[in-house]
Amino acid sequence: MAYNEFAYFYDSLNEDADYDALYRHIKAELEAHGIHSGILADLGCGTGELTLMLAQDGYDMIAIDQSEEMLCVVRDKADQLELTGRLLLLEQDLCHLDLYGTIQGAVSTFDTFNHLPTLDAAIANAGFFMEKGGVLLFDMNTPYKHQKVLGNNTFTFEGEEAGCVWRNQLEDGGRRVRISLDITDEENGESFHEEFCEYTYSLEEIRAALERHGFTLESVCDGETFGPLTDTSERYFFCAVKNYTQLEGEQDV
Ligand SMILES: C[S@@+](CC[C@H](N)C(=O)[O-])C[C@H]1O[C@@H](n2cnc3c(N)ncnc32)[C@H](O)[C@@H]1O
Repeated sequence: MAYNEFAYFYDSLNEDADYDALYRHIKAELEAHGIHSGILADLGCGTGELTLMLAQDGYDMIAIDQSEEMLCVVRDKADQLELTGRLLLLEQDLCHLDLYGTIQGAVSTFDTFNHLPTLDAAIANAGFFMEKGGVLLFDMNTPYKHQKVLGNNTFTFEGEEAGCVWRNQLEDGGRRVRISLDITDEENGESFHEEFCEYTYSLEEIRAALERHGFTLESVCDGETFGPLTDTSERYFFCAVKNYTQLEGEQDV
């Protein structure tokens, strides 16, 4: 479990992330699938940058994360934007997701699914609560990024509020990256350490997991340019559609 104190510095350390481009792509996919309103889940919402953009757009958002600290940040931002009425915060593990009704779609961004040691439970749960024809829009780091960019390398970041030394270590024959963060609060000089793993999945493993749980992978593109995938794409972006035909043994929510 990570993203404890890191939650309070996440936005500062992630300030180069282009949530506007991500939002535009997601909004276009939602519109293309006829999802102009309704309930969406943000699976592993983090500090809620994307959640709140979608809430501002009129979607009713369920923001799910297993980190209480991340959800506190989302709640504070939602208060400031007067968006709490459009938002349900749930502290849950995606592998044991339990919603109170159906959703029209789900998003999951900035590598949340790479944090899962297996994709099956999270995808099955998202599918269980999703209406047929709904979309699961998510990104993941590619094997290229894990093996060639993160590798066994160390990076340093200087955000406005915090500095961070980010160490990566490849494990399990390159199928897992252990990430250790040493973060220093620029204001008071306090330091703390967090650790978590990202798991590597090939495109075919991801497609197979989606198909096992009632989704069709409709498209995959580069998750940074939103153009075609290349051999050096660092992030995938997936659009998967919940099938109209029921899986054997599947029941309606
Ligand atoms: C890299 S952050 C991405 C946050 C956000 N989606 C974004 O776009 O900035 C990954 C998030 O996934 C959450 N997470 C990781 N594993 C999880 C799990 N099994 N269940 C729920 N949340 C999880 C972490 O707490 C963290 O907030």
